[in-house]
Amino acid sequence: MASSSEHHHQQRVLNAGVLGATGTVGQRFVVLLAQNPAFRIHALGASERSAGRAYRAAAKWKMSEAMPAAVADMEVRACDPAQFGGCDVVFSGLDASVAGDVERAFFEADFAVFSNAKNYRMDPLVPLCVPVVNTDHYALLAAQRAAKGLRRGFIVTNSNCSTSGLVVPLKALQDRFGPLRRVVVTTLQAISGAGYPGVASLDILDNIVPLISGEEPKMEAEVLKILGGLRADAAGCAPLADLRVSATCNRVPVVDGHTECVSVEFAAPAPPSIDEIKQCLREYTCEAQRLGCPSAPRQAIVVTDDEDRPQPRLDRNAGGGMAVTVGRIRPCPVFHVKFTLLVHNTVLGAAGASILNAEYAARKGYIVAV
Ligand SMILES: NC(=O)c1ccc[n+]([C@@H]2O[C@H](COP(=O)([O-])OP(=O)(O)OC[C@H]3O[C@@H](n4cnc5c(N)ncnc54)[C@H](OP(=O)(O)O)[C@@H]3O)[C@@H](O)[C@H]2O)c1
Repeated sequence: MASSSEHHHQQRVLNAGVLGATGTVGQRFVVLLAQNPAFRIHALGASERSAGRAYRAAAKWKMSEAMPAAVADMEVRACDPAQFGGCDVVFSGLDASVAGDVERAFFEADFAVFSNAKNYRMDPLVPLCVPVVNTDHYALLAAQRAAKGLRRGFIVTNSNCSTSGLVVPLKALQDRFGPLRRVVVTTLQAISGAGYPGVASLDILDNIVPLISGEEPKMEAEVLKILGGLRADAAGCAPLADLRVSATCNRVPVVDGHTECVSVEFAAPAPPSIDEIKQCLREYTCEAQRLGCPSAPRQAIVVTDDEDRPQPRLDRNAGGGMAVTVGRIRPCPVFHVKFTLLVHNTVLGAAGASILNAEYAARKGYIVAV
């Protein structure tokens, strides 16, 4: 049950700033925030190349949805905290090459920052939060604020786009059947995951690129932090020590939606049956759903029994892009079970996760009014 103070927070519309608003993730933020009753877009930021221009001129618009009228004529600002006064929350879709310094400037200026970039994900005082999986990691924020001397400010990150899809079924399985021992995952990742202009068309059409630089170690480390717990004093993370994850990442000629082929071994010697696994995934729920956050999917995991699903074009918008679709659940002759999942890489894999993180933070009273 949400407390009365949670209901109070839930009703206030929050002013949102978007850093990196012209990019692939930034445009997704703009589309999702414009439809979201909990937020009002207050400020848009990008590089000096874009600052001072109208958003419609600065952004090379690539979304299939029309550019929301409310932002088209907004002037893009430089990513300077002094230009984001009045923002209750700041979402970042900044390029990792600048996110470290710019995001630090914002949280040190006491802004609540929700970031998609990799820079702070593995900091032990920073929640790495896939909001349908580990909102319990928000308990780190008290120690983070104390360590950095912040009153209103903090930074919460969400995971790499492939990690965000993988951890949802793994969390469901771990909660129901106990620790996992080994996970092997092979990804087929969409080109929108590389930003714009991303992979050259001559490299990706009629082709598969068997390298996404830096992606495999990110997945292997982030899964352990997200599925792990916190130290007893909530002043640090306690990543899983006994799970081994091996990731192989490929870029494929799909626009949106990452597919992942996963094999899982449980620590328990007698694995659950395939029917028990399907039931467990179908029944999985999370705290963001129980609190009634507007972006939480009704069904966090959509289990399909169609033998040739999930497919990116057919399944990427399940739950408004916030659900993970899992199919082809079958015994694994090497480990215990294998399946194929699909995640929308810029929704649950990026902007949608940040927005749901902010909805959750608001309901739990972490966002202090300006
Ligand atoms: N795409 C995905 O599916 C995905 C998923 C999860 C996480 N991420 C992460 O999210 C971040 C953004 O990715 P993306 O794919 O959206 O990249 P992108 O399309 O290349 O966009 C980058 C954004 O950063 C801005 N920027 C670049 N240099 C800047 C500077 N010096 N100062 C201020 N702003 C600057 C750009 O503004 P200008 O237009 O003015 O250059 C643009 O708005 C990355 O850290 C990425 O790893 C992406």
